[in-house]
Amino acid sequence: MDIEQKVAVITGASQGIGAALVKAYLDRNYRVVATARSIRPSGDADVLAIPGDIADRSTAERAISEGLARFGRIDTLINNAGIFIAKPFTEYTVADFTDILAVNIAGFFHITQLAIAEMAKQGSGHVVQITTTLAEQAIDGVPSVLASLTKAGLNGATKSLAIEYAKRGVRVNAVAPGVIKTPMHPPETHAQLAALHPVGRMGEVSDVVDAILYLESASFVTGEILHVDGGQSAGH
Ligand SMILES: NC(=O)c1ccc[n+]([C@@H]2O[C@H](COP(=O)([O-])OP(=O)(O)OC[C@H]3O[C@@H](n4cnc5c(N)ncnc54)[C@H](OP(=O)(O)O)[C@@H]3O)[C@@H](O)[C@H]2O)c1
Repeated sequence: MDIEQKVAVITGASQGIGAALVKAYLDRNYRVVATARSIRPSGDADVLAIPGDIADRSTAERAISEGLARFGRIDTLINNAGIFIAKPFTEYTVADFTDILAVNIAGFFHITQLAIAEMAKQGSGHVVQITTTLAEQAIDGVPSVLASLTKAGLNGATKSLAIEYAKRGVRVNAVAPGVIKTPMHPPETHAQLAALHPVGRMGEVSDVVDAILYLESASFVTGEILHVDGGQSAGH
């Protein structure tokens, strides 16, 4: 085992932004622990697939302990698994509330606690949350309080953790996307979604991946909420 090769843990790695991140980190010569409920075993020896619900602490425990057993270290955690439920506030069900808290908040808490403990031991590491510009800039016609509630919580946690770990070599950042072309959005919605951005288009998965790779190499950047949103956070 090459002990110098870095290791990234990527949640929500079965499709969309997460699947692209797996490829991007492999291309950067990282080894990758990829987790999602429907993740398939990989033929690539540099990828360890851990199937499971990220809301369950046992999934987080397996991802970190099996990642350490196989690769020997944890350098980066990308908290990408997330769900988006947009509804008028009074139409949200208790199940919607429970599900979004489970994936977006409990899913962040369990694996981050375990990963960051390893990073602190190593004296280096990087944690990135994928949030959303909607958490700070609500859009008329896109009611989505539970997305804002959870993702704004992650933005706050990003800054709080960045400060708590600043002197221990662990950086903590977030990327706040606008609307990105992933399986989350069916093609027939794309024209309408493009119009929500000052630049007049939806984001590409590569726009988000590039931002995360920038943060990965930005050793003086911590506690940052990097907007990748076609200008949404600047105004309309
Ligand atoms: N696409 C956008 O426009 C957009 C905008 C702003 C923010 N974001 C954020 O970016 C992140 C990725 O979005 P995406 O568009 O790539 O989403 P996506 O295509 O819907 O993929 C979501 C990923 O999360 C995993 N996931 C969902 N629930 C899970 C659970 N309970 N346990 C484990 N894994 C779970 C899914 O895997 P399984 O189903 O296999 O579990 C999948 O790999 C999310 O946090 C999302 O909120 C996206």
